[in-house]
Amino acid sequence: MSEAKRRAAEKAMDFVEDGMIVGVGTGSTVAYFIDALGREPERVRGAVSSSEQSTERLRAHGIEVLDLNATGPLALYVDGADECDPAKRLIKGGGAALTREKIIAQASQRFVCIIDPSKQVDVLGRFPLPVEVVPMARSLVARDIVALTGAQPVWREGVVTDNGNWILDVHGLRIIDPVAMETAINQLPGVVSVGLFARRPADVVIVGEDTPRIL
Ligand code: A5P
Repeated sequence: MSEAKRRAAEKAMDFVEDGMIVGVGTGSTVAYFIDALGREPERVRGAVSSSEQSTERLRAHGIEVLDLNATGPLALYVDGADECDPAKRLIKGGGAALTREKIIAQASQRFVCIIDPSKQVDVLGRFPLPVEVVPMARSLVARDIVALTGAQPVWREGVVTDNGNWILDVHGLRIIDPVAMETAINQLPGVVSVGLFARRPADVVIVGEDTPRIL
C-alpha cells in the first residue's frame, strides 16, 4: 500500500499554494506528503503540526513549525485517515494524534484527506474507533461506551498521547449515524476527543490509485 499512499500524498501538493501555512496531520501517508513538501520548502511559510512525530520530520526538512495560536485560521490541512465513507466522514486516530488533528481540521478552511484505496468503506466502524481519555477516567468512559453503543472498548496499553492522555479503541461498531455517535461520545465526562470526523468531514479526498482519484 505504500505506493498508493505516496501517490495520494504527492497529489496533495496540487492544493498547496505559494506562501501558505499548511496544517499537517500524522501517519505514514502524511510522511510522504511532508517529504514532498521538503523537496520545495521555500514554497510554504511554515506548517502547523498535529504531532511530535510530524514536527520532527518537518523540521528535518527545514520547514518551520508554527503555533496555531499565532497563525490564526489555516487555508489548508492535509492528513490521512483510517477509514473514509462516501460522505467523506472519517475514522482517525490510529496513530493516537486524533485530538490535535481535530483541532487543526476545525481551524482549516479546506481539509484534504489522503488515503490508499483500502481505507474506503460504505459504513464506518470496522476499524476500531479511537477515543482519547483523561487517564483517571479510563474505566468510567469504557463502561459508558459499552452502555451507549454495546461495543467493546479496549485500552491501548502503553500508549500515551502527546497530550499525556490514554486511548481506548472501540471494537465492533457499525456507525449508521456518525454525527450522532460523535456527539454522544464527546459528551461523556473524561473524553478528550473521539476519532470520528463527521461534524467536520474532509472537503476533498485523494485516493492513491494508479492515477490518483479526487473525490
Ligand atoms: C493518526 O492519528 C491517524 O489519524 C492517521 O491519520 C491515520 O491513522 C492514518 O495513518 P496512515 O497514513 O499511517 O495509514
